[in-house]
Amino acid sequence: MMRARALPFRKRPMTDLADRVRDIVADHAALEGPLLPILHAVQAEWGHVPEAAVPVIAEALNLSRAEVYGVVTFYHDFRERPAGQHVLKLCRAEACQAQGGAGIAKLAQARLGIGWHETTPDGRVTLEPVYCLGLCACGPSAMVGDQVIGRMDREKLETLIEGLRA
Ligand code: FES
Repeated sequence: MMRARALPFRKRPMTDLADRVRDIVADHAALEGPLLPILHAVQAEWGHVPEAAVPVIAEALNLSRAEVYGVVTFYHDFRERPAGQHVLKLCRAEACQAQGGAGIAKLAQARLGIGWHETTPDGRVTLEPVYCLGLCACGPSAMVGDQVIGRMDREKLETLIEGLRA
């Protein structure tokens, strides 16, 4: 059975959020176009971009909240809510779709009972689309944590999901 590694981010208490976000902004202040690196750093810290971080970042960068929020929602890499214990990513790009990716995605959604960007009610698995994992010749491809899995088929997926939910 495949075992997935835990997510790499550190969970921090939300109480010191504003101060910590200001520190993160200060750490990136010298960069040109610091917003994306700041958002990545915030997500690395809390596992998602907390709503309360948006006005702090906006004020520090002299942007509107809508501008910051727009970037958070535009890029699939950023999460507005904490992810589940495991994040299962399924490739939705062309080569994997041509090798049966759509059927694998449908099966994953049915088995987990969730859609894209959702987390199972038990908090075990978050399902996310990804657009190419660099394993195009071995599609359909998937990723759990930092483990990339090629040639995904129904049986492999069933086993994987069973392991993630155990
Ligand atoms: S298209 Fe799926 S890994 Fe490249």
